Amino acid sequence: MSELDVRELNTMETDSQLYRPVTIGNLTLPGNIFLAPIAGYSDRSFRSICVDWGADFTYTEMVSSEAYIRSSAKTEKLITRAHNERRYAVQIFGANPDFMAGTAVRIIERYHPECIDINAGCPMPKITKTGAGSALMRNPEKLYAVVKAVKDAVEQTGVAVPVTVKIRSGWSQTELTWKEAAIAAVEAGAAALTIHPRTCAQCYSGTADWDILAQLVQIMRGRVPVFGSGDLFSPQSAHDMLVSTGCIGVMFARGAMGNPFIFRQTRELLQIGAYSEITPADKIGTAKKELMLLCEEAGEQTACREMRKRFAAYTKGIAGGAKLREQLVQASSIQDYERILKNFSLQAVYPHTDNNR
Ligand SMILES: Cc1cc2nc3c(=O)[nH]c(=O)nc-3n(C[C@H](O)[C@H](O)[C@H](O)COP(=O)(O)O)c2cc1C
Repeated sequence: MSELDVRELNTMETDSQLYRPVTIGNLTLPGNIFLAPIAGYSDRSFRSICVDWGADFTYTEMVSSEAYIRSSAKTEKLITRAHNERRYAVQIFGANPDFMAGTAVRIIERYHPECIDINAGCPMPKITKTGAGSALMRNPEKLYAVVKAVKDAVEQTGVAVPVTVKIRSGWSQTELTWKEAAIAAVEAGAAALTIHPRTCAQCYSGTADWDILAQLVQIMRGRVPVFGSGDLFSPQSAHDMLVSTGCIGVMFARGAMGNPFIFRQTRELLQIGAYSEITPADKIGTAKKELMLLCEEAGEQTACREMRKRFAAYTKGIAGGAKLREQLVQASSIQDYERILKNFSLQAVYPHTDNNR
């Protein structure tokens, strides 16, 4: 099918079909708007907030199979399900098929995730030099071996948990191996694919090549569902990706940071063609809730430090946000946050209040 035919086919889809349930293996999800795995960000607290705001499925950040086999406490924390997270995927990375298989089985037995996702996209040299992450894109045989080992081991547990794979477009512009990698993953038993169509060499620069996503959708039609990731910074961009590529669902990553509202807004856009604005009170209230969840998860000191950058993301674009951020970079306890935010609310309601008097 030519590229033109593909576009014509996709634009025939009506918008009402764009938000829809999706099936991955035996797993049926109520909708197709997901939170992507984000190392250092998609922890239990943030995932919980994204579920509150309508994410249909959430991914943990990538978990090292080598570290998990050694049972590091940090790894355990990354995997725990949030209280409101009815369905989630744990993403694992590694290049040793046996370690990956063992990790998947232990995670399933202990945490009962609805899906195990294999990372074949991480561009960080400390990961790729071990043959894991994006390095698997240059080695389809190894990717096949990893996926097959995980899939077989999961099947032997007797629990129907689909194994999925997240890929990039390749190693570099001269090694665009997405097709070979995708075929290897599916032949090994992957129940779904997600592609972030940038190369490893691009890391996060340039733009994601949605044409590659559209081609992958066509190749996999009737075989496995394909999800899209890359440059989704607004509800409209998610709509455009669904329409122009025909992918079954989308995964927000950077677009959800400090903006978990994007899940609900996207669903509204897909269902009714418009979406509601988010008030500054919603933004601050949600950031405060995330702070409290993160305090429970990581302890007050760590959470308060980590939440400085997250508050900065939440308060981008709100009136008085710059001044608020100046104060929040100093916050190191819940009390600090409460004092600063109380002053900010007073200023918002009574702009002439001078708290220094
Ligand atoms: C800080 C950061 C951490 C990420 N961590 C992971 C990860 O652990 N696993 C993964 O598969 N992708 C990871 N990604 C990639 C995202 O899931 C996503 O595919 C990518 O950011 C493209 O989407 P975006 O342009 O909408 O942000 C990460 C991206 C960022 C920015």
